[in-house]
Amino acid sequence: MADKKARLTVDGESIDLPVYSPTVGPDVVDVAKLISLGYFTYDPGYVSTVSCESAITYIDGEAGVLRHRGYSIEQLAEQSSFLEVCYLLIYGRLPNDDQFADFQSAIQSEQVIDDYLMSVLSSFPRNAHPMGVMCSLVGAMSAHYHDEIDINDPECRQTTAIRLIAKVPMLAAMTLRHGRNQEFVPPAPNRGYAENFLHMMFSESESDSVSPILANAMDRIFLLHADHEQNASTSTVRLVGSTDANPYACIAAGIAALWGPSHGGANEAVLQMLEEIGDPSKIDAYLKMAKDPNNPIRIMGFGHRVYKNYDPRAKVLQATYREVLGLLGIQSDPTLQMARDLERVALSDDYFIQRRLYPNVDFYSGIILKALGIPTSMFTVIFVVGRTPGWIAQWNEMISKGYKIGRPRQLYTGDVIREYPQD
Ligand code: SDX
Repeated sequence: MADKKARLTVDGESIDLPVYSPTVGPDVVDVAKLISLGYFTYDPGYVSTVSCESAITYIDGEAGVLRHRGYSIEQLAEQSSFLEVCYLLIYGRLPNDDQFADFQSAIQSEQVIDDYLMSVLSSFPRNAHPMGVMCSLVGAMSAHYHDEIDINDPECRQTTAIRLIAKVPMLAAMTLRHGRNQEFVPPAPNRGYAENFLHMMFSESESDSVSPILANAMDRIFLLHADHEQNASTSTVRLVGSTDANPYACIAAGIAALWGPSHGGANEAVLQMLEEIGDPSKIDAYLKMAKDPNNPIRIMGFGHRVYKNYDPRAKVLQATYREVLGLLGIQSDPTLQMARDLERVALSDDYFIQRRLYPNVDFYSGIILKALGIPTSMFTVIFVVGRTPGWIAQWNEMISKGYKIGRPRQLYTGDVIREYPQD
C-alpha cells in the first residue's frame, strides 16, 4: 500500500515512515513504528491524526464537501430518503426495490415496544434529560441482547443494525411521552419512517395524521445527520468497539459522547444562546464575549474541526427551513431572523473570518426542529436518531475489516519517582 516514504530525522538518527494514499484526500504518514526509535507522536484532540481506514464517508473541509459512499450530501438530500441512506451507509450501495422493501420490512418487524424498556423508562422522573434517558435505554438493550451477540457473525451484526435503526426512534418518542406523562402511541405499519416518528411523538390517537411537509422535513433532517466520518461520537463507538464490546454498549457510549455541547449538544445550545441574546441589538455585545479568549462563551453552531468553509449540511438545512416556513405559511420567525442576523454579523467579523468559522450543521438544525414542534431538550435526541446508522455502519466496518484495540499513549509530566514516607 505504501510506495511513498517520509523520512524523520531526530538527533541525527533517521527513520523512513510509509506514506499511504487514499482514493481522495490527503496522504497519511504511518507512524506506528516510530516507537522503535523511542518516540511517540503528540496530537491532543487528534487534529492531524487518522485513526482508521474507512470507505463510508468522505469530507473535504476546505471545499465544504460531504459524500456518503461517493454520493454528495446535496444529491442524497434532494433525491434519496433517510432509510435509503441507512442502507447505503451499511451495505455500501443503493438498494434496488426488492432490497429496499426487505430492509423496510425487517425494520418494521423490529418496531415493537419491549416491556423491559418500558420498565427502565418508567424508573425515570418526568423531568429527566432525554439524552440521559436515551443512554440508559440503549444501554438496557445491551443487557437484554448480550447472550445472543457474536460480533464476528455478519448475520448478528446485521440484526443489531436493523434493531437499532428500528428501535432508537421508538425510544426517542417514548422518552418524550414519558416526560409529558402521555400514553405511548405505537408505530403504524403503513407509515414512513419519519412520518411514524412524528406520529409516535405527537399523535393523540393511532388514527391521527402527520403533515407530509413536516414528515419530509424530518426525514431530511435525519438524513443530514446520518454519518460524518470520524467525529468524536463515532470515534467513541469505534474505540469502545475495539475492545470487542457489546455493540449496543458501543452505541450507548456514542450517545454519551454526542451529548456534549461542543458536539451534538450544540443544537440545543444554539436555541439557548439565541434566547439568551434575546434581541438583535445585543448581538454585538454577545459576539464580543465569544471573542474574548478568557470568556468560555462560544457562538454555538459556529466553527468546526474539519469544515473551514460552510458546512454543506447547514446550507441544505437553511433551504429546507425556508421551504417548511413557506409551505406552513409562516411569514416570519423571530428566532430565524435572530439567527440570520447573528450569522451575518459573525461572517463579516475579522475574528471569525481569520479563524474560518462558519455555521455548522447545528446552527440551523435547532431552529428547524423548533418549527417542527420538537422541544429543545429533544434536539440532540433527534441527532441520535439520525446518527445511529452512521455509528453502526462504522462499527460494522471496523469489526468486519479487522482492528487493533485502541490504546493511545501520553506525554507524562507527573512526578518521576517518590519514596513512600517511612514512619
Ligand atoms: C458537530 O466533528 C464532527 O464531524 C462533528 C459534527 C458531526 O456531524 O458529527 O459535525 C457535529 O459536533 C458540529 C460542531 C458543533 N459544536 C458547536 O457548534 C460548538 C461551538 N463550536 C466550537 O466549540 C468549536 O468550533 C468546535 C468544538 C466545533 C471545534 O473546535 P476546534 O476544532 O478544537 O477549534 P478550536 O477550539 O481550536 O478553535 C480555533 C479558534 C480558537 O481561537 P484561538 O485560540 O485561535 O484564538 O477558533 C475559536 C477558538 O477559540 N473558536 C470559536 C468558536 N469555535 C472556535 N470562537 C467563538 N465561537 C466559536 N463557536
